[in-house]
Amino acid sequence: MEKIFDSHSHYNDDSFKSDYKEILKHIQDSGVGTVMNVGADIHSSRLAIKQAEENDFMYCSVGIHPHDAIQARDEAIMAELEEMIANPKVKAVGEAGLDYHYDDSWSPEVQKEAFIKQIQLANKYNKPLIIHTRDAMQDTLEILNEYPLKSGVVHCYSGSRESCKQLVKMGLYIGFTGVITFKNARRALESMKVVPLDRLLIETDCPYMAPEPNRGKRCDSSMLHYVAQKMADELGLEKDEIIRITRENAERLFNII
Ligand code: NI
Repeated sequence: MEKIFDSHSHYNDDSFKSDYKEILKHIQDSGVGTVMNVGADIHSSRLAIKQAEENDFMYCSVGIHPHDAIQARDEAIMAELEEMIANPKVKAVGEAGLDYHYDDSWSPEVQKEAFIKQIQLANKYNKPLIIHTRDAMQDTLEILNEYPLKSGVVHCYSGSRESCKQLVKMGLYIGFTGVITFKNARRALESMKVVPLDRLLIETDCPYMAPEPNRGKRCDSSMLHYVAQKMADELGLEKDEIIRITRENAERLFNII
């Protein structure tokens, strides 16, 4: 059986604190071969590295999520982040990007500044950038046009098909979560179909985004079987092929041999 690569997870999240070891064993038993553990601020980035160092099948990224964009104005934090990138377990920068969904978010100016700094860091160290974008596609595309990335992925894709085409044209990979199993997933599924097979990734974004039939529960990487099955059904492929293709894509993107 092909092994699953979960290209975006947060095992550094507090919700995994109590049963972290059991969950990691459970997901490996279920056929998950590799996970990318994603940092979202300086604290969770430190923890992501510690966890990746403790687990052979885990790699990590370090970065500042738009929800914590203000941290990118702190020179000491940015210096520490830059140092962390040299760690052999760190395979990407991020997640970074723009999120205008909540009214109490940092201003677009603060968010853009953090995003651009991390694009530059990723390019400087030849690492892919993991991009988070929500209700901010126009600004995201503008920044990526002005500051082109060497490589990267737009994770938990939720935008339009047209925007998806533009991101693919920029050479980016596109990650899909359990959202594609939801009843109202038409938009995500239409976007998925314009992504070339060699740019598709599957991800949990756990503990969030549990796929059907587990929607609303705490998500973990074992649930990617549902996401892979849905993707396979929509694209007319076998589930095992999707698992193989998305794993090879993730290994290429994150430079994992
Ligand atoms: Ni995430």
